[in-house]
Amino acid sequence: MKLIVLLFVLYSSVLFAQVNIDECKKCHGEKFEKIAYGVSEIVKNMSKLEIEKALLAYKSGKRDKYGMGLIMKLRTRFYKVNKLKEIAKKIGR
Ligand code: HEC
Repeated sequence: MKLIVLLFVLYSSVLFAQVNIDECKKCHGEKFEKIAYGVSEIVKNMSKLEIEKALLAYKSGKRDKYGMGLIMKLRTRFYKVNKLKEIAKKIGR
């Protein structure tokens, strides 16, 4: 029983560590309530799907809405597609 609990704790902390959105907050605000660099949408007002689409497009270099897409491309390329979807679910409304 103890082992199962321990494994679960380990597993969830790994999951947690992988979705590290602290970095995003520097630009998008603690609750994603800021307009990053004075251009972006307020991310917390975007839907989960919108965010997911935006992040995947940044990752593949297809999105550059305000001429700062490169900033997001450099961030999103380190995340796997599944992680980006997870992040979108976490921060979208
Ligand atoms: C260095 C600052 C910075 C960091 C860090 C950053 N972003 Fe951004 N983000 C921006 C800028 C600037 C834009 C607008 C890019 C453009 O021109 O399309 C943007 C755009 C976005 C958009 C689309 C908003 C729109 O207006 O369509 C989403 C969603 C987003 N970021 C989420 C994230 C997430 C999630 C992270 C963390 C993995 C992150 N950002 C990290 C600066 C940042």
